[in-house]
Amino acid sequence: MRELVNIVGLERVVSDIGQEIESDYARWDEFDKSSRHAVHVRNGVIELMPTSDGKRYAFKYVTGHPNNTHKGLLTVVAFGVLADVDTGYPHLVAEMTFATALRTAAMSAIAARWLARTDSRTMAVIGAGAQSEFQVLAFHTMRGIKNFRLFDTDGAAARKLVHNIQALPQHDICLTPCKSIEMTVDGADVITTVTADKRKATVLMPKHVHPGVHINAVGGDCPGKTELHVDILLRPDAKIFVEYEPQTRLEGEIQQLDASSAVREFGDVVRGRVAGRESDLDVTIFDSVGFALEDFSTLRYLSRINQERGGQREYIDLIPELDDPKDLFGSLMGSRRGSRLSAVR
Ligand SMILES: NC(=O)c1ccc[n+]([C@@H]2O[C@H](COP(=O)([O-])OP(=O)(O)OC[C@H]3O[C@@H](n4cnc5c(N)ncnc54)[C@H](O)[C@@H]3O)[C@@H](O)[C@H]2O)c1
Repeated sequence: MRELVNIVGLERVVSDIGQEIESDYARWDEFDKSSRHAVHVRNGVIELMPTSDGKRYAFKYVTGHPNNTHKGLLTVVAFGVLADVDTGYPHLVAEMTFATALRTAAMSAIAARWLARTDSRTMAVIGAGAQSEFQVLAFHTMRGIKNFRLFDTDGAAARKLVHNIQALPQHDICLTPCKSIEMTVDGADVITTVTADKRKATVLMPKHVHPGVHINAVGGDCPGKTELHVDILLRPDAKIFVEYEPQTRLEGEIQQLDASSAVREFGDVVRGRVAGRESDLDVTIFDSVGFALEDFSTLRYLSRINQERGGQREYIDLIPELDDPKDLFGSLMGSRRGSRLSAVR
C-alpha cells in the first residue's frame, strides 16, 4: 500500500476509491448482500465482511479493539481477499488496515457529495485517531473543504493530526485545534465523529447540531457502541442515511431507534430512487458502519492499479497447482508427480 500510494499519490488513490465505491452503489442490486459476521469479544469485535457481484467475490477480516492503543496496538486492523467467482480461486490477498482508512474516508466524502450542503466549507472532526487524517484528506480533496476544527480528549492525538496534515506537500488546509466539542462544531457545515469507545457514548449532543449541518457519524459501528445522542436522530428535520439497512439496524446509531424508524439506503440515493438532501435546512446524518461493498470496490481497484502501475507483486504459495487435479494426496505426500505450487497474486 505504501508503494502504491507513493506511485499513484494519496489524493488520487482516495478519490479513485471513492469513484469505484460510488459506481458500485449505482449497481446495488447486482450485489449479494448480508450483514457482516461479528464475533464480539471482551475487548472488541472481530468481523468478516463478504460480498459478490457474480463475477468477483471479496471478503475482509477486520477488527475493532478500542483499548488496543493503550497496548501500542491499532484499534482497527484488516486484510482482504479478492477471488474469481467462476473458479473460486483467490487472486489477491491484500493488507486492508491502510485500505480501510482510505475507503472509509472515501465513502464519507462520497456520501457527503449527495448529503452535505454544496456550499460546505468547514468541517468539525471529533476524534483524532488512526482514521482522522484520512477523513480530513478525503473531504479536502473530494469536497473542497479547507477549514477543519479538531477535538480529541487526547491532546497528543490532536497534535499528531495537525503535524501529519501540515507535513503534506502543497496543501491549503487550515486546521484549528479546539478545547471542547462546543468550540469544534461552532460554524461547522459538516461534523465528523470518528471516536472509538466500546460503549454507548454521547459524543455529540442535541445542542451541537444546527439546521443545515451534515453529520458523518463514523465511530458508532457496533451493537452498544454509539456516538450521537438519540434526540439528534429524532429531530423532525433529520434525515438518516445508511449503507445496508439490516446491518446498520444492529450496529449503527439507529440501533437506538425503533426498527420501523425511517432511514434511506445510500444505494437508493445514488440510483435516484430516494432523495438525498432536500433543503439547505435539513440535518443529514450518514450513519456509517462500513459495508462489504466498499471493501470489494477497494480490493478490485487495488488489484487493477497494482497491475497497471507495475507495483511490486509478491507471490505466495496458497493454492496447490496440480497437473492431475484429482491427485491432491500425491501432491501433499511430496510425490511431486505433476504437481507445482501456484502463486496467488
Ligand atoms: N464506519 C466505518 O466504516 C469505520 C471504519 C473504520 C473505523 N471505524 C470506527 O472509527 C472509530 C475510530 O477509529 P480509529 O482507528 O481512528 O480509532 P483510534 O482508537 O485510533 O482513535 C479514536 C480517537 O477517539 C478519541 N476519543 C475517544 N472518545 C472521545 C470523545 N468522547 N471525544 C473526543 N475524542 C474521543 C480517542 O482519544 C482516540 O484518539 C472506531 O470506533 C472504529 O471502529 C468505522
